[in-house]
Amino acid sequence: MLGAPNQNYAKTMMLLGAGELGKEVVIEAQRLGIETVAVDRYEGAPAMQVAHRFDVIDMLNGEQLRTVIEKEKPDYIVPEIEAIATDTLQELENEGYNVIPTAYATQLTMDREGIRRLASEKLELPTAKYEFANSLDELKEAVAAIGTPCVIKPIMSSSGKGQSLCRTEAEIENSWQEALSSGRGNSTRVIVEEFIHFDSEITLLTVRSSTGTYYCPPIGHQQQGGDYIQSWQPHAMSEEHIRQAEEIAKKVTDEIGGYGVFGVELFITSEGVYFSEVSPRPHDTGMVTLVTQDLSEFALHVRAILGLPIEDVHLVTAGASHAVKSSVESDNYYITGVENALTVPHTQVRLFGKPDAKAGRRMAVILSRGENVETACRQAEKAALEISIESI
Ligand SMILES: Nc1ncnc2c1ncn2[C@@H]1O[C@H](COP(=O)(O)OP(=O)(O)OP(=O)(O)O)[C@@H](O)[C@H]1O
Ligand SMILES: [Mg+2]
Repeated sequence: MLGAPNQNYAKTMMLLGAGELGKEVVIEAQRLGIETVAVDRYEGAPAMQVAHRFDVIDMLNGEQLRTVIEKEKPDYIVPEIEAIATDTLQELENEGYNVIPTAYATQLTMDREGIRRLASEKLELPTAKYEFANSLDELKEAVAAIGTPCVIKPIMSSSGKGQSLCRTEAEIENSWQEALSSGRGNSTRVIVEEFIHFDSEITLLTVRSSTGTYYCPPIGHQQQGGDYIQSWQPHAMSEEHIRQAEEIAKKVTDEIGGYGVFGVELFITSEGVYFSEVSPRPHDTGMVTLVTQDLSEFALHVRAILGLPIEDVHLVTAGASHAVKSSVESDNYYITGVENALTVPHTQVRLFGKPDAKAGRRMAVILSRGENVETACRQAEKAALEISIESI
């Protein structure tokens, strides 16, 4: 019928968090005819630039979150970050809203304690030994129990913020101050983890969908100061380690439930695979799948959310991603060197278009294909070195 509304547009997806990962989710949702709304705490966020509509709210404020959700009445509420009023998400789910993958997942992974206790105590998965502490005195006791070196992190933080390696007793106070200064919210609670001397660390992207659970080939990555700098796919692993990794991922994601992509972070050691943490959403190290897989982690997420079938996850080529971070602070920056970066073979550049540059903030990513991951990593790194964020 002429002039009939596009039936697919009857479905609306709201992204809570509108960063570079949300931007790719929005693009994939639009490819399947979904109306998209991007929400974040600041205007001009990457996903807002491509969504049909946007809202600016404090997502940790339950009232503001409820107001915007009741205004838009989205069919799918898709969290992109952890810092959201998860109690409100739980209430909204009880009232019939569809939170991806589940409101329980967002509560469980909002801080490090819920998911760690579940993985270790309920599912009995191998993890680093851990203790929690609420004060400097408790922290000293916890470090004594775990031993040094250990890793100390605020229970609510991401991208390595507030995290430090504590090598000796003398460093405990520094670690405490570091955690206090960078944790999210008013919490002073920290986790102390045994330092795992891993051979490598991976993200196992796991997709729960209406047609079953699928695993992307393992993504290896390198972190600097607790934040990802480079990732590659496929990461070479023994059959036995792959089996252990998939078994851990299956147990954790089945427990969390719902449909969507999960980033299961694992440490690979000579004693076997350790569970570290899980994101119930696409993972930053998974941006490499934009060039390596026929369906990227973002395309898989949207398919799974919509209840559509997934035939298989297919790796097309080896590849690598390299983060480009700002070293300047500026609300009026420009980017140089893209023309040089693009002379590197089989290489693409994604600039996120963030309105402000901040020291250490990820502003762009390089994506390279290669005959093998070593070549792809070299290319991505070479291209990344060409790019610079400059303040006007
Ligand atoms: N117990 C540990 N032993 C050894 N290394 C660790 C340990 N915990 C964390 N790390 C290192 O620090 C990195 C970041 O830790 P973690 O993933 O817990 O922090 P995060 O703030 O949640 O980071 P992100 O949000 O980027 O995933 C890990 O990827 C790993 O390289
Ligand atoms: Mg992590």
